[in-house]
Amino acid sequence: MATRKTPTRPPAKRSPRSGASPPRRPRTVPDGSAPEPVDDSLAALRDAAAGCKRCPLWKPATQTVFGEGPAKARVLVVGEQPGDQEDLAGRPFVGPAGQMFDRALEELGIDRSRFYVTNAVKHFKFERRGKVRLHRSPNPAEQAACRIWLEGELSRIKPDIVVCLGAIAARNVLGSKFRLMAQRGTWQALPDGTRAFATVHPSFILRQRDATSRHAAYRGFVADLALLLDA
Ligand code: URA
Repeated sequence: MATRKTPTRPPAKRSPRSGASPPRRPRTVPDGSAPEPVDDSLAALRDAAAGCKRCPLWKPATQTVFGEGPAKARVLVVGEQPGDQEDLAGRPFVGPAGQMFDRALEELGIDRSRFYVTNAVKHFKFERRGKVRLHRSPNPAEQAACRIWLEGELSRIKPDIVVCLGAIAARNVLGSKFRLMAQRGTWQALPDGTRAFATVHPSFILRQRDATSRHAAYRGFVADLALLLDA
């Protein structure tokens, strides 16, 4: 019987220093740029975004807060930017605004875990006041620098429906001519035909001064999101 020759492994290369394997070189990213995704997948886009330094917001933030949800979600939800809790947790819409969004979806009988949820800007912009980090709106240059990630999420997920929460999300998805308070809760079409609509940001409800206005703002939010029931 013929004996089979087992393939031999080439001897491992030894580091000249101590026999340990050489240290992995970190992917260095100069300020003003971001790593290229290694392939066309959503996971590679997420990895690249984790090292993003395209605008100065990466520095004081804890981490990039990328979108989360199924890579084949039919509905993609876009917010403004992570808040304090999202920055610490590394996940979108887990703080008070996220809880308001969850409450509205629950009332409509919609399961948020079916959605891909993300933000127009992926780093938390804030101003320190003592121990508190106060939300600051991202400026147009910061939004523009971050747009490659949202565009990458949209082109990979190819959702049937995009929901914009608030004016910054709406401007980034529907264009600068979109008027949130006049056009909220109405179907729009993106250039590629994808259906989209915008509603207020859940923090708009939280910012209302009294219970009556909070209630009215919340009812309007739920009424806009009800578009998803027939979609
Ligand atoms: N507000 C947003 O727009 N996004 C979040 O993830 C949290 C708060």
